[in-house]
Amino acid sequence: MNHFEVRGGELHCEDVPLSRIAAEVGTPVYVYSRATFERHFTVFRDALVQAGVVDPLVAYAVKANSNLSILKLLSALGAGADTVSEGEVRRALAAGVPGERIVFSGVGKTRGEIAFALKAGVSEINVESEPELKLVAQVAEELGLRAPVVFRVNPDVAAGGHAKIATGKAENKFGVSFAEAARLYANASNHPHLNPLGVACHIGSQITDLAPFEAAFSKMVGLVESLRGEGMSVERLDLGGGLGVPYFNQPDPPSPVDYAAMVARVTKGLKDIRLAFEPGRVIAANAGVLLASVIHLHERPEGRKFLVLDAAMNDLIRPAMYDAFHDIRPVKATDAAPVVMDVVGPVCETGDTFTRERALPPLGAGDLVAFMSAGAYGAAMASEYNSRPLVPEVLVDGDRYAVIRKRPSYEEMLADEIPSDWK
Ligand code: LLP
Repeated sequence: MNHFEVRGGELHCEDVPLSRIAAEVGTPVYVYSRATFERHFTVFRDALVQAGVVDPLVAYAVKANSNLSILKLLSALGAGADTVSEGEVRRALAAGVPGERIVFSGVGKTRGEIAFALKAGVSEINVESEPELKLVAQVAEELGLRAPVVFRVNPDVAAGGHAKIATGKAENKFGVSFAEAARLYANASNHPHLNPLGVACHIGSQITDLAPFEAAFSKMVGLVESLRGEGMSVERLDLGGGLGVPYFNQPDPPSPVDYAAMVARVTKGLKDIRLAFEPGRVIAANAGVLLASVIHLHERPEGRKFLVLDAAMNDLIRPAMYDAFHDIRPVKATDAAPVVMDVVGPVCETGDTFTRERALPPLGAGDLVAFMSAGAYGAAMASEYNSRPLVPEVLVDGDRYAVIRKRPSYEEMLADEIPSDWK
């Protein structure tokens, strides 16, 4: 459920008409609903608790939507943060997420990033390879600390909405094998600067079926049991993120309640373990839209119609990158018969096409449209390609809104490119 709905013939975010934001902030602009973010987080966490998972660490995947105001509102609800760079760790800390709720993941953490995370007191460093384990041990020794490490295991399970976002197969770059995990865990257990806490997996994103999760989680439970059988202490099991969301044309994915029930069933036999989760999309996607204006409708002589928007692939890359489908809704509702058109942005690439041959209500210059389900991996993946200023973000709360990332001026966009002294 989200808080974007048509009222009085016009699409609103909570109690604010999107046309008001377009008039006052301009387009393109991302618009988020605070109530939806809060609801999605609470539903996910409560589903786990109600299924019997004791004190889950729900570490929101910052990469999905890393705006500081969003992190702050989730942190206030008790969310942790799953981070993959020093920048994300810094964002989480700046948003008030305490170190003990921060997970630091990622296949290529640098020495400097590891040192920063250890000093910040993160809850776990999810180690993805043997060389990385060595680096973490070295850095911890230099700092005179014991690094809390969790081994990210690659469960070799196929899952995910698109090849570019599937992470759980052995051919992907992520995580260590089960055999390596057991060997590295034993090494870490005997190391004075490592504190192996547990194991983790994350098999992919936009997963719309519980079966691959269940297959992976069962393997992880088996791993915990076998590590414990060998006398090792395992107190944490991080099950990653990946739960899909209902994008318009897809079958409804399992609900957080179904997911939580499966988790509780699969992990039932494990005692004294804290489960961690890293949901991103399921919290953020349907809590945001990208609001854009029509620049014009270009009708080619042979009949093809191109709706040219002021938003482009640099603002929302998902269609170009993953062939993703986003529902496109006119902000002013109409009963007029639909027209088939391609919806494109102004960037100089054919790839800057949001959709082909979509039936949409008749639209023309100045009309507003909203790309639905754009709260996750939207603004967070935006760029300035074609020297288009970074798209701003707005947060709605009831009948008011705040700009939570302003649109940079052209002067600001150019300011960092003044040459330093030649060396
Ligand atoms: N944990 C780890 C280690 C991850 O790599 C990811 C996502 C997550 C958690 C969160 O997954 P989620 O719950 O959001 O599915 N840009 C792509 C999605 C990339 C996902 C990368 N990893 C897209 O727009 O579809």
